[in-house]
Amino acid sequence: MWKPPERIKHPLLDPGWPRRDEAQRSLLFTPLRIGPFEVAERTWVPAMVPWRSTEEGQVTEDVLSWYERFAEGQPGVLVVEATGIRDIPSGPLLRISHDRFLPGLEELVERVRRASHGKTRLLIQIIDFLAVRRRPQPEKYFGRYLEITDRHRRALGSGASDEDIREHLQGLAPEDLAEILSERELEALEKGYRERVTDIEKESIRDLPRVLPGLFSAAARRAQVAGFDGVELHYAHAYTMASFLSALNDRQDGYGGSRENRLRLPLEVYSAVREKVGRDFAVGCRYLSRDCIEGGSEVEDALYFGLELARAGMDFLSLSRGGKFEDAKQPKVGRAVYPYTGPSGYECMPTAISDAQGPFGRNLPAVAAIRAAIREAGLETPVVAAGGIAGFRQAEQILQSGQADLVGAARQSLADPDWFKKMRQGRGEEVRRCIFSNYCEGLDQMHKQVTCQLWDRLDLDEADLALSSDGKRRLVPPAWDPSSGDPTG
Ligand SMILES: Cc1cc2nc3c(=O)[nH]c(=O)nc-3n(C[C@H](O)[C@H](O)[C@H](O)COP(=O)(O)O)c2cc1C
Ligand code: SF4
Repeated sequence: MWKPPERIKHPLLDPGWPRRDEAQRSLLFTPLRIGPFEVAERTWVPAMVPWRSTEEGQVTEDVLSWYERFAEGQPGVLVVEATGIRDIPSGPLLRISHDRFLPGLEELVERVRRASHGKTRLLIQIIDFLAVRRRPQPEKYFGRYLEITDRHRRALGSGASDEDIREHLQGLAPEDLAEILSERELEALEKGYRERVTDIEKESIRDLPRVLPGLFSAAARRAQVAGFDGVELHYAHAYTMASFLSALNDRQDGYGGSRENRLRLPLEVYSAVREKVGRDFAVGCRYLSRDCIEGGSEVEDALYFGLELARAGMDFLSLSRGGKFEDAKQPKVGRAVYPYTGPSGYECMPTAISDAQGPFGRNLPAVAAIRAAIREAGLETPVVAAGGIAGFRQAEQILQSGQADLVGAARQSLADPDWFKKMRQGRGEEVRRCIFSNYCEGLDQMHKQVTCQLWDRLDLDEADLALSSDGKRRLVPPAWDPSSGDPTG
């Protein structure tokens, strides 16, 4: 994973754990309305893919235990991982692309309701993504995948057969190849082929605006039938909808170029979803306060998007940043490029080794500006902040100062899903604090079951313990026994 060259090691912030009475009086633990429902408190667990579904995208017992464990901490909102809306094989990523996924998702809702005693509101993040192929062996690339064009023929002499051209190209040094191959061909060789929303010469890409509203709205309707409280439309990071919003989107068909055009499809998807599920079901989105890549969208774009998405009637806006493909690290041969491996990935999930600014709350100035613009326009849409938030004082300060309405904490909640409970009870000293190492994210990148280094080797001799497929790690943190330790509040 990329780290800022300054490599400054930042200590964790003073968590300022509250006494029980302080927690009770805090904004963090005060209810808030989000569209059709009230949340008991302003704590939010953002989506995290744990790689626990079947290869067919079905809910497994491991998926159920994972969300059940988060629900035991009773956060205000728990968002289920990015879940695919297309009925196509996509490895062990959860899917909601057909009614056959309903029984598993219904069970998931049931388990979360039970574990949180009905306190936690449950959303599911729904996602579309485009094709990304593994980085090929050069022999295979030149021998099979590369389509020989006139450009190659011109460069290598008109008399050569396609076979000769393939052979010749394979023998060339990288700097010579760069002269002959197009940018996209070179990328396909060096990183693996990756589709873009701007490839409108391909019918499937040209048709995205025609197809996606239907796919998203059908998925949202399934989420409603399964019993979720709402959906989070995934308009963030490296995926289809975020790519429409990005300033890099220069589609010429009315869905790219100006901000207004880039927002057209996200608004059309939202309208289709809303029409399908009505107003009694929460519909919001996660999108980026900044792309954090060269030529990508900036905060000014996000201000415009936020205002328009709020005006359209979104029930909440959750802000992330970065996490793009464009600056991702070159993968090894046989692996696919992963969006969180470059500088924009760092902005999305910053580690304790950082630059002078540090990893804690880097997204907050942008989030605060977006929320302020929405409020100035007279809209009350709740805004969720996330990114390096892991302590009570920091979270409360964010709410008190009006930077955001809800506080998202992904990795801290993974490190200790009971941390909300511990804070409420004035037992913050017992919180297992995330050290922002990104060990969890490393597992995610390898598509391995995600765990946390702070607990995955603890109490491995527990009876009936579910272990990772390598047999070395537990899959959920040990239970917290509130009768142990000293209550301080
Ligand atoms: C293992 C892992 C999986 C993630 N999966 C998703 C995802 O499915 N959807 C999403 O929007 N963000 C995803 N994220 C990003 C988090 O939701 C969050 O934005 C990010 O970790 C920064 O917040 P934090 O500092 O509180 O962890 C993931 C993060 C991690 C660590
Ligand atoms: S592995 Fe655990 S401690 Fe490290 S970043 Fe992930 S959640 Fe935090």
